[in-house]
Amino acid sequence: MLSKPMQDALNCQINVEFASANQYLALSAFFERINMKGCAHWMRIQHEEELAHGMKILDYIHDRDGEVTIGTVEAPDTNWGTPQEGFQAALDGERQNSKQIGDLVELATSEKDHSTHAFLQWFVNEQIEEEATAQDIIDKLTFVGDDRTGQFMIDQELAQRVPPPETQAEQD
Ligand code: FEO
Repeated sequence: MLSKPMQDALNCQINVEFASANQYLALSAFFERINMKGCAHWMRIQHEEELAHGMKILDYIHDRDGEVTIGTVEAPDTNWGTPQEGFQAALDGERQNSKQIGDLVELATSEKDHSTHAFLQWFVNEQIEEEATAQDIIDKLTFVGDDRTGQFMIDQELAQRVPPPETQAEQD
């Protein structure tokens, strides 16, 4: 059984994941607009990943016989002018999300909720990967700068991204 503070915090995190999904969807639209379709594809898959993260928490609350509440999801900031700014926004969002996952882990510890603590470790590891991936793409974009051929090659590389199994499962 989840404590009330733990349940509230997990419900809040569902909202964070869905807000993150919205931001990635907006970023996908931004990259479509500037004709970087590989980046748009990458962002679209990330959008699906974030939805899957939210659903994973939702399912967990149900598994623990808790009560799910869905809140209002804020519209994302869309103030990006360059590919780097788009991916920097993604990285900033992931860093913020990592902090919130960390806060959830601390709460699970203080509530002596070992099940939720174990459940959250998947998210802790996921955040390491998500921050590293976004940083890697920013580094590549910074390396090529305004060179259109370099940007085209990065775009081609990101077009190869394959949806991870958890998003496939959601779609089946
Ligand atoms: Fe659900 Fe990108 O963290």
